[in-house]
Amino acid sequence: MTYRLFEGKDHASIYQQYRFTPPEEVKNIILQYLEKQKGQPHVLAVDLGCGTGQNSRLLAPHFQEVVGIDISECQLEVARGLPGYPNITYRKGVAEELPFPDSSVDLLTAASAAHWFDQSRFLAEASRVLKPRGCMALLCFSDSNTKLYYQDCGERLVHIYKEVKQVLLPYTSSPVAVTEGKLEELYSAIPFPDKERIEGIWVTSSISVRNLVGFIESHSMFQAYKKKDPQSARALLLNIQKRFLEEMGVTSPDTEIGLEQEYFCVLASKPQ
Ligand SMILES: C[S@@+](CC[C@H](N)C(=O)[O-])C[C@H]1O[C@@H](n2cnc3c(N)ncnc32)[C@H](O)[C@@H]1O
Repeated sequence: MTYRLFEGKDHASIYQQYRFTPPEEVKNIILQYLEKQKGQPHVLAVDLGCGTGQNSRLLAPHFQEVVGIDISECQLEVARGLPGYPNITYRKGVAEELPFPDSSVDLLTAASAAHWFDQSRFLAEASRVLKPRGCMALLCFSDSNTKLYYQDCGERLVHIYKEVKQVLLPYTSSPVAVTEGKLEELYSAIPFPDKERIEGIWVTSSISVRNLVGFIESHSMFQAYKKKDPQSARALLLNIQKRFLEEMGVTSPDTEIGLEQEYFCVLASKPQ
């Protein structure tokens, strides 16, 4: 089954505005793994489910060529509109049927995307297109442990965040729930002996209240809720922002909150 929950133009522009670029810490883990398993040269990286290209752009300085692949033309259009990355091309396609010859790809990545793929068809395609010792890196964050900090009210902010996620729970597709299992099933199914799953990569940053609300808006479950009941969805966003600001005792949605998120990464290298 192919999931198509990222098709709308509005959703794509919300994605570009509010989705996080994967952290440097995770990028470094991936590049070190590739260096250890395969070494230079780093010719071609393919970023699957690239969305608006956050992860593709992060890879660009480290490869001769990066190709971002996504099923959604709207997401790709936004990605193509961002100037300054001459070695990236974006192509419409699916992770289960890749437009590359056998043994031609150094690194295959999927950032917050592998849970949407058909597992066995994707793994067969990854085995086909990777060069010998080429690597795959499936990275994601686990939202259930996200921590928020603002003076002494961090725990209450987390409580509000979790309440919102409860409201959206009925609109959550089953693949999203797979990320909470940190891709365990997919990891077990990878047919390469060289594989590892790194959990507990905690990354701290800060985010404005406005952008945190925007991040919630970017979730596929929020978009599903909005499709069903646009008025209530809009009211939910306004209400979250209001509750955050009241709890923090401030009025500006540009006020920054400390954010701590857990990332994980599945790494694997094709045998020689
Ligand atoms: C949660 S978004 C992640 C986007 C981006 N990688 C990021 O880190 O923000 C998942 C993306 O995967 C794409 N997608 C879903 N199923 C796909 C498939 N089978 N092949 C390629 N892309 C797919 C969606 O269109 C969407 O853009």
